[in-house]
Amino acid sequence: MSKFPKGLLLAGAIVGTLTAPALATGDADAGKKVFNKCRACHAVGEGAANKIGPHLNELFGRAAGGLSDYKYSAALTTAGENGVVWDEATLSEFLADPKGFASGTKMGFAGLKKEDDRDNVIAYLATFSSETAAAAGEAGSGEAVAEGEAEAEAETSAPEQAASQETPQGEADGAAVAAPAHAAPSGGPLSLGRPATEAEVAAWDIDIRPDGKGLPVGRGTVAEGEPIFAEQCASCHGDFGEGRGRWPVLAGGFDTLTRQRPEKTVGSYWPYLSTVYDYVRRAMPFGNARSLSDDEVYALTAYVLYLNDIVTDEEFELSNENFTTIEMPNVDGFIPDTREAEAHYQASDPCVTDCKPEPAEVTMRAQVLDVTPDSADGEGEGPAGGNVD
Ligand code: HEC
Ligand code: HEC
Repeated sequence: MSKFPKGLLLAGAIVGTLTAPALATGDADAGKKVFNKCRACHAVGEGAANKIGPHLNELFGRAAGGLSDYKYSAALTTAGENGVVWDEATLSEFLADPKGFASGTKMGFAGLKKEDDRDNVIAYLATFSSETAAAAGEAGSGEAVAEGEAEAEAETSAPEQAASQETPQGEADGAAVAAPAHAAPSGGPLSLGRPATEAEVAAWDIDIRPDGKGLPVGRGTVAEGEPIFAEQCASCHGDFGEGRGRWPVLAGGFDTLTRQRPEKTVGSYWPYLSTVYDYVRRAMPFGNARSLSDDEVYALTAYVLYLNDIVTDEEFELSNENFTTIEMPNVDGFIPDTREAEAHYQASDPCVTDCKPEPAEVTMRAQVLDVTPDSADGEGEGPAGGNVD
């Protein structure tokens, strides 16, 4: 994910040990112009002092909020304490969106949206820092010490060679040299992680909504589902969804919801069929999740409907096309959460203290109300049917 190609980084590192810092990208001359946007608040160069913002000499390698004679916001001090050190990557992120990078920073600057502007101003600032070179140089030599056999390599490695080595060793070396100043993660102040790729998001994005959104194209019948269920599911859920031992019951329990110990099954309790498809595809068979094809999940979902007498024809075929025509018995057993529409939540300034006009009054003691579960008669000892509410 680094936007600094390895070859260029090495070039930068090696040139850097000999001369002034040469950054991978960015044009210091162009950056000088960009810095006009910063000058009102920052000074850099010989004799630079703190102004509204801290001076920016020897910025590279300095911890964020790292000058002892400048009073930073807590946001920037904390970023520094959490390990943010200024280098190309962290500066680029900070300058792109100062408030996004360090929420609460007192740098009153909207940010440089153009990557070129950032690269250039960073290159300009680098000319006032000796650390850019030192950090890269140190990393190079430290690594040579660590790798016993690296000496010969160090002599011969022209940048392109080192970068193009294809052995894992070569990869590791290149990364090690590049890492300290530049391996540019884009994961916020702690530089962890990277944005997920489209393919990764697609692989996770498998939820199915009650209105059918997310259903894959496919089909399966009750008759096709039965043998799959017998083989993959019945060992836990029983041949008829009755649940073996303490494994969940999948069928029956109708008209038990108002009882003290309701039997909540797919048939008696679940309001939408989409949850069955989503859940089975995502999580079942327990211990071997994601092993079923989309068609097998359609067949199993049809079979679970059959076990619950919601369909009665063994040849019934469930598909992405007729899926939303199935209505579950308990679809009206849930009410939408409309609390946000209530007056109390509408108030822009909701009351949070002393909201009851009269003083609170104790009306009864918990002991008398008998809210403590009483296990003497065996009631209240664990849920019925192994279901999670
Ligand atoms: C309106 C004033 C203002 C402008 C314009 C401004 N800054 Fe800042 N800058 C600040 C202040 C104030 C801080 C201290 C932030 C804090 O403590 O949260 C700061 C902090 C910084 C830091 C962190 C330094 C450190 O020691 O941790 C860098 C780097 C920086 N600014 C670079 C820039 C650059 C580059 C520009 C121009 C592209 C710029 N700033 C524009 C006011 C400004
Ligand atoms: C090894 C045992 C096991 C196997 C095999 C298994 N399941 Fe499950 N199943 C479970 C467990 C345990 C849960 C409850 C998981 C939880 O609540 O976190 C569960 C939950 C379910 C539920 C939700 C029940 C509810 O009311 O919450 C459905 C539906 C389901 N399984 C279907 C299937 C299907 C279809 C198969 C076959 C492809 C299958 N299971 C195979 C153990 C198993």
